[in-house]
Amino acid sequence: MSEIITIDGPAGAGKSTVARMLAKRLGYLFLDTGALYRTVALYLKEKNAIEANDETIERLLQECEISYDGKELFLNGRVVTSEIRTPEMSELSSITSTKRVVREFLTGLQRKIASGRNVVAEGRDSGTVVFPHGKKFFLTASINERAMRRWRELKDKGLEVSFEEIKKSIIERDERDSCREIAPLKPAEDAIIIDTTDLSPLEVVEEILKRII
Ligand code: DC
Repeated sequence: MSEIITIDGPAGAGKSTVARMLAKRLGYLFLDTGALYRTVALYLKEKNAIEANDETIERLLQECEISYDGKELFLNGRVVTSEIRTPEMSELSSITSTKRVVREFLTGLQRKIASGRNVVAEGRDSGTVVFPHGKKFFLTASINERAMRRWRELKDKGLEVSFEEIKKSIIERDERDSCREIAPLKPAEDAIIIDTTDLSPLEVVEEILKRII
């Protein structure tokens, strides 16, 4: 039987780093579901369809092929792994992810990617909706710590953004992700909640390993 571990939480809580490390440690596939939402947002942006109605988006998604080889993410055959990591794509993906058609499309894709494999999935609704049978974790951290992590990440990539701007956009994104009607960001009832504010990624991984082994 394949095993699924889900790691959900708000932006900057440390999900990606921790999930990637944990997957490596266990030899599982790392599934970054936010990257899939970002890729759909990029696709819709390129089709000038961010504000389009459900019918149009549903039709466009029929020609949107996303694949993931465990390392690179492909949008209709083109590598988009770095292109989706900008503040603009953070914003647009948070907006397009509120749409039911987008969520249905990506819920199906996530289950397909995970089918028959051992997976560490990170996102917003991995435990509540997509993989309800997984072992569930929910990471949180203070808003200042989360904004600082995101600011450092962008700075390391050479992007100059102000700390206050990042903090504001994270607060807005949290609000949108948590208040949307479909699959809002929230811990599953049986999720183990870990506050990562004062923990290193390795300490969080150790904490998770203690709970699953
Ligand atoms: O984790 P991230 O920052 O890459 O996610 C980008 C956006 O995608 C996030 O603001 C909300 C959306 N998202 C979602 O709705 N459900 C997921 N499982 C993952 C991401």
